[in-house]
Amino acid sequence: MKILATGGAGFIGSHTCVALLEAGYDVVAVDNLYNSSEKAIKRIQEITGKQLRFYNADVCSRPQLREVFDSEPGVDAVIHFAGYKAVGESVQKPLEYYCNNLNSTMILCDVMREHGCKNIIFSSSATVYGLDMKSPITEEHPKGPCSNPYAWTKSMIEQILVDLHTGDPEWNVILLRYFNPIGAHPSGLIGEDPKGIPNNLLPYVAQVAIGKLPKLGVFGDDYDTPDGTGVRDYLHVMDLAYGHVAALKRFEGSHGVDIYNLGTGKGSSVLDVVHAFEKACGKKIPYEIKPRRAGDLPAYWCDPSKAERELGWKAKYDLYDMCRDSWNWQSKNPNGYDD
Ligand code: NAD
Ligand code: WQD
Repeated sequence: MKILATGGAGFIGSHTCVALLEAGYDVVAVDNLYNSSEKAIKRIQEITGKQLRFYNADVCSRPQLREVFDSEPGVDAVIHFAGYKAVGESVQKPLEYYCNNLNSTMILCDVMREHGCKNIIFSSSATVYGLDMKSPITEEHPKGPCSNPYAWTKSMIEQILVDLHTGDPEWNVILLRYFNPIGAHPSGLIGEDPKGIPNNLLPYVAQVAIGKLPKLGVFGDDYDTPDGTGVRDYLHVMDLAYGHVAALKRFEGSHGVDIYNLGTGKGSSVLDVVHAFEKACGKKIPYEIKPRRAGDLPAYWCDPSKAERELGWKAKYDLYDMCRDSWNWQSKNPNGYDD
């Protein structure tokens, strides 16, 4: 099967390309390198010893996307990772987020349809459940009003894809709702490479450990959680990557619209993460307690049993493994993909 991955040079896309190549798929990656480096593509090939075809193209550009599909006849399915993903930035730049995330999806689906490909997996997010989540969250949990434009783009794109299937039942749509992906490929050759000061916990902790940042700010220690800090369902990015491989098998039948939570089903606090990372890197992570971050929920984690039941997928790595692999990547690449 030939799989096209938009955003294939990014954090989750690059790890999924590794998993796809290892599983024997023919892989085409499309990325405009807005938030990634072509070095990731070379390293995917170094890890797997296999070739993939890379196109530096903007998914919002119909001519560029048509050229890719014309050059790659017979794409069986698309995994759509491409998009902007910074929650805070989306509040400042809503138009850019709606434009890029929605337009890329609509143009992609239109060009797929022109080329006879109607199987799509979409990178959705736990954020679509809104602010009133009851853990463990199942896929039946109602979607909620979102708290920022990024989250709305995910919720709206889900709806667009559902409507696409309603209008034309030949479309098979899989919405994967990721929880908190962290970690890196165990080789240390690919990983998360945020630009500027990281917004997310793991890259921040990793940069404190390597000495690029002085200390972590822990956003709140007065939540109603075992140690007072926020609880999330962290998931190894390679487990997440294998989740996509498992989901692709679903296209062998015709299932319409499927939704799966991808997480471990286990919540860990900010301090659990700090302690696991300290164990992995052998250093103390200095931190100070800061006020709660606006918009943060105290605690949530998923019920991943539907993915296990229907896809045969289950996360294997634990929090220590995630921190160990994140540290391996960070210590081997202190400046990410930059020299
Ligand atoms: P990322 O920024 O590393 O990867 C996204 C990639 O898309 C980047 O390489 C970027 O250059 C590319 N891109 C963006 N707009 C494009 C366009 N118009 N045309 C071509 N390429 C474009 O992000 P990631 O963490 O790998 O996330 C992948 C997907 O998963 C995103 O859709 C994100 O919203 C979603 N997601 C991520 C998380 C997370 O915590 N990382 C959680 C839930 C969902
Ligand atoms: C995790 C925990 C923070 C940074 C975000 C998006 C979500 C999804 C995944 C895409 C929280 C705490 C963090 C720091 C801290 N992305 N924290 N100090 O907010 O759960 O989810 O990424 O869809 O949509 O919102 O992840 O890593 O930012 O925070 O104490 O410097 O770490 O308060 O409890 P979050 P995160």
